[in-house]
Amino acid sequence: MTHAIIEDLTQRYTAKKYNPAKKVSPEDLHVLLEALRLSASSINSQPWKFVVIESEAAKQKMHDSFAEKFQFNQPHIKACSHIILFANKIKYTPEDYDVVINQNIADNRISQESRALMAGAYSFVESNLDAQGHHTEWTRAQTYIALGNALHTLARLKIDSTTMEGIDGELLKTLFAQELAGYDCHVALAIGYHDDEGDYNLNQPKSRLAAEQVITVV
Ligand SMILES: Cc1cc2nc3c(=O)[nH]c(=O)nc-3n(C[C@H](O)[C@H](O)[C@H](O)COP(=O)(O)O)c2cc1C
Repeated sequence: MTHAIIEDLTQRYTAKKYNPAKKVSPEDLHVLLEALRLSASSINSQPWKFVVIESEAAKQKMHDSFAEKFQFNQPHIKACSHIILFANKIKYTPEDYDVVINQNIADNRISQESRALMAGAYSFVESNLDAQGHHTEWTRAQTYIALGNALHTLARLKIDSTTMEGIDGELLKTLFAQELAGYDCHVALAIGYHDDEGDYNLNQPKSRLAAEQVITVV
């Protein structure tokens, strides 16, 4: 008998066509957003923002963001239920980390006296500064942890999804200027329910490299 986790990960797949009539319930959406919020990140930095595209107006802007690139992902936008933009902070400042420290204190995870000790972890952020004075490589990596959580959560909820690195991050920053101010966006996730006809990925067998090719136990 296989484990429930393995069943989740085996049955999930990348949907290629959505049924526009089927939408994700508010309850399930809430579970997904909580899974994003609860994701782990380096030094608990949470250097991310999850922009949930739900309204027709926002979907139109998302649709328009494919004007120049990656048109193969465009059909999902109006047919799926929601799209999540995984945004990562361009500059992660000591003030940003102070907000996290304050939350740790409010949540009784650390004491007021431990503030300086936790603040010392910011040196890790400094060590991830690039030549432009940005932390984007490091903050971007954190968003992929949330993405992985999202994929498993969606599998458990039997909601289909399409991860999209094929997005135009620069155009998105223009179209969603307010929401993405100070952030980059390298990956988005369409969620919803597949179309029974026309989703060529629907009944494809799962294909992964064999364990001995990717796992080494020493
Ligand atoms: C980081 C990342 C980016 C991806 N970008 C796209 C994309 O732009 N469009 C698309 O149709 N699929 C995209 N995919 C889906 C992958 O092609 C897919 O996950 C992979 O082929 C494994 O298939 P499965 O998800 O059906 O198991 C992406 C997946 C990941 C994890």
